[in-house]
Amino acid sequence: MPPAPFAAAAVATVALAAAVCLGAAPTTTPVLGPKGEDRPQQIEGGRYLADAGKTLAPAPQGVSSYVADPATARALRAGVNDGRGAELYVDNCAACHRSDGAGYERVFPSIAGNARVLASDPSSVIRLILLGGRLPATSAAPSGLAMPGFAWRLSDREVALLGTFIRNSWGNHAPAIGIQDVSRIRRDIERTAAHF
Ligand code: HEC
Repeated sequence: MPPAPFAAAAVATVALAAAVCLGAAPTTTPVLGPKGEDRPQQIEGGRYLADAGKTLAPAPQGVSSYVADPATARALRAGVNDGRGAELYVDNCAACHRSDGAGYERVFPSIAGNARVLASDPSSVIRLILLGGRLPATSAAPSGLAMPGFAWRLSDREVALLGTFIRNSWGNHAPAIGIQDVSRIRRDIERTAAHF
């Protein structure tokens, strides 16, 4: 089956990521292809039918029980998604962290097997999605690469769906994130920001 919808979204997302990396305001919103007949169906229980493409097993980061599962990357590359969470991942995150969640070594960290993503308390990963983050500049990566914050762009519900997706893809298994968790942390952030 043709990977065209994801490929198009990936190109648009790369353009967005490049703009964000360069500090420019993104002017376009990457979109997935139209929903419906061009998108292969998934079977019950969130498992994917798609079997196109090959994937590299992401390297585990800090979680010894983590076992990589290539199904998510195969599905995303084939343009199949597991609902809104997967769609949000493709639109907002995949350009840097890739469809296999493995990122790019020394540039964009792996989400697959990432201890912060898998923590049973989701507060830290919610804060990261809302506020973004910055790696300290080192001699190996002197630019101090940044991840943009998504508080302005994603609703509490979207952050919950996206967070739940990344906590249960590529072999990750962690409890779902509730909308109330995101609302609480967004309020905390806003309260703290009000002091500045
Ligand atoms: C422009 C590139 C870019 C985009 C887009 C991006 N990130 Fe990141 N991401 C980074 C960089 C750079 C880091 C390292 C910064 C840090 O750890 O604070 C990072 C770190 C992470 C981490 C690891 C944090 C840790 O402490 O190990 C996770 C998880 C993550 N991003 C998830 C996401 C999610 C989810 C999205 C989409 C909403 C996203 N990223 C979008 C660049 C990006």
